[in-house]
Order: sequence, then C-alpha cells, then structure tokens
Amino acid sequence: TAPLRLGIAGLGTVGIGVVKIIRRQAALLQDRAGRPVVITAVSARSKDKDRGVDLSDYAWEDDPVALAKRDDIDVFVELMGGHEGPAKDACEAAIATGKDIVTANKALLAHHGQELALAAEEAGVRIRYEAAVAGGIPIIKSLLEGLAGNEITRVMGVMNGTCNYILTQMQATGRGYNALFEECAELGYLEADPNLDVGGIDAGHKLSILSSIAFGTQVNFDAVELEGIQRIQLEDIEHAAEMGFRIKLLGVAQMTGRGLEQRMSPCLVPASSPLGQLEGGTNMVVVEGDAVEQVVLRGPGAGEGPTASAVMGDVMDIARGISIPTFGQPASTLRPVTGAKAAKP
Ligand code: NDP
Ligand code: HSE
Repeated sequence: TAPLRLGIAGLGTVGIGVVKIIRRQAALLQDRAGRPVVITAVSARSKDKDRGVDLSDYAWEDDPVALAKRDDIDVFVELMGGHEGPAKDACEAAIATGKDIVTANKALLAHHGQELALAAEEAGVRIRYEAAVAGGIPIIKSLLEGLAGNEITRVMGVMNGTCNYILTQMQATGRGYNALFEECAELGYLEADPNLDVGGIDAGHKLSILSSIAFGTQVNFDAVELEGIQRIQLEDIEHAAEMGFRIKLLGVAQMTGRGLEQRMSPCLVPASSPLGQLEGGTNMVVVEGDAVEQVVLRGPGAGEGPTASAVMGDVMDIARGISIPTFGQPASTLRPVTGAKAAKP
C-alpha cells in the first residue's frame, strides 16, 4: 500500500517529538495504519541547528510554503506557530494544492479557523488539530466522535500547562514567578511569546476552538472574556489555601439565554476537588452533555511527548482514511456567535 508522506514544518519541541515517534514506532504505525507513515521533507528557520536527531534522510525546504506545495507530500504538518505569516500562508498553500493538514496551532485556528475550514471543505482536504487543545488529552476526538450524539451543555477546564505549573509550584514551594517561568521554558511548555500563556490568551484560543465543536458555532476568539495570571501574587495563593481553595486559570464555555458565553480567568476552586488537585503541566477538561452527563479528561497539557502523541493521532486518522468536518459539521452550517462580548485586554 502507498505510504502516507508527511512534510513537517517546524522542528522545535513538538516537531522533533513527532520525528522521534515516527522513527521509533515505524513498524507499529504501519501495522495500525495498514501503510507506512513516512517523512518526505522538513522545514525550519535554521538548517544547521543541531536538533539531536538525524534529519539527513529528509529533503529540506527553507520556505514552509514551498514545503506545503511539494507534490511528494500528502499531509502538511504545521508545527511552527503564529496566526499570521508563514503558518497561515503555508496552510493556505497546502489547501490550494490538495494536501491534508495536521497542526498544533491553536492561535491560527482561533483567528482563522472558520476561513480555513471553509477553504479546506471546498478543496476536499482535511484539517486535524488534536494537539492544539490540552496537549496529550484527546479532547478534540472525544468531542468530534465519541460525544457526537450529545447536545453539549458546558465545556470547562484547565487548558494551559504553563499557568497550571506556575500556580501549583508557587503554592507548593513558595517560589517566585520568574524561577518557575524558567522551568516552563526548560520543559518545553512555553509559547514563542509567553505572554500568550500567562495572559490567558493561549487558553482562550483553546476554549474558542472547543466551543465551536461543542456548540456548532464559528470559532470566535474575540468573544472570549479573558484575564491572565500575571496579577496573582504569592499572598493570593496563600490566602486561598488558608480558606481551602486553589487558584486555577479556568475556562468555561456554555450556551446561555444571551448566547454563547466563553470565559477564561483565574478562579478559586476547592483544594480537595479534582480541579484543585491538578498539578504541574497537567490539564483537565470537563464536558457535560444531555446524554452522557459528565466526562472528565485529564492528562499532560504540554511538552514534547504528549503534544507529539496528539499530532500522531491525527496523522493516523488520515492514514486510515478517517474524514470528519473540521469542527464537526460542514463549516457553512456553523452559526455566528451571538451575544458575544469583545472584552479582551
Ligand atoms: P518551537 O518554538 O519549539 O518550534 C518552532 C519551530 O518552528 C522551530 O523549529 C522553528 O525553526 C520553526 N519556525 C518558526 N518560524 C518559522 C518560519 N518562519 N519558517 C520556518 N520555520 C519556522 O515551538 P513548539 O514546538 O513548542 O510549538 C510549535 C506549535 O505547537 C505552536 O503552534 C505551539 O502553539 C503548538 N503547541 C506547542 C505545545 C508545547 O508544549 N510546546 C503544546 C501544544 C501546541 P528553528 O528551530 O530553526 O528556529
Ligand atoms: N504553552 C502551552 C501550555 C502549550 O503551556 O499549555 C500547550 O498548548
């Protein structure tokens, strides 16, 4: 059977994690997909950087757009980040030349999800993005597939590993924000612009994506009410602990009489609750549906292995020929968000 040929743009934390899985698990992937999964070509900013992995078997492209257009790839795997510039240009080029896309880029989908989904549908290609929300937790697949028979009433949770790491470590060790921030960099958790993490913006991107699938609405990040963790002091965390609470950056999306409500902000949660006990870079997403009642998913929210695991889940779906509309229903049938608040700082 013909191999599934990948072009990978972005060889940082996530991209190298994906390369490692494909090299380490080639036989397992082939058995499960019924065909080999291979890397044909790669791209990053610097060709000469030592990435700790031998990349000499793969063709190199300086320009991710050229990579996306190559006729020897079937899937364009976008792992660069950023919602304008090369990531967007290259995804558009991939769609225009008939390639499926796998991406971990929540910023791109939060800002351009609707237009990309429409373009992909018109071109007959797939966009998959499991890694974009909650790292290694298969929350996108759960909403798109396993929970597809439910009317979803609420989606909530902790969706940023960096913020959860900083908040839990401040509480557990009394250490300061800056030292913990450095640790997040070493763990590979941080966005290229870490203000996206601590400002709640990255988690807001994720919530806006989940809302679209859960409520059949067009992704609308501008409608997310946002507050980050920058103003949380050690004393706040200590006072919360004295009263039996933890501070978490919590996202909630629910349909109300006024339309879709999406909020991402620091909240007090009981210390003894599952959310209160969530430590380090762990994420938790709670989905409530009319039939299932409540499902709780918990797992690593960031870092090389967990994120690459999610990317590979999408690659395997494509290798197996699984096809689901980007946000669970034809993009043209997604409703605009009503009752939206444009309250971002
Ligand atoms: P990194 O910063 O580690 O890697 C980014 C990669 O993209 C680098 O290899 C870089 O090249 C390359 N790149 C950046 N700009 C360009 C460009 N203009 N042209 C070509 N290559 C470019 O990021 P991550 O791996 O951490 O994140 C990648 C994506 O995954 C982002 O969308 C992020 O939001 C998302 N994500 C990350 C998670 C994580 O835990 N890290 C978790 C979930 C999602 P070079 O190496 O040469 O500089
Ligand atoms: N910067 C993100 C986080 C990466 O800390 O959760 C995972 O999306």
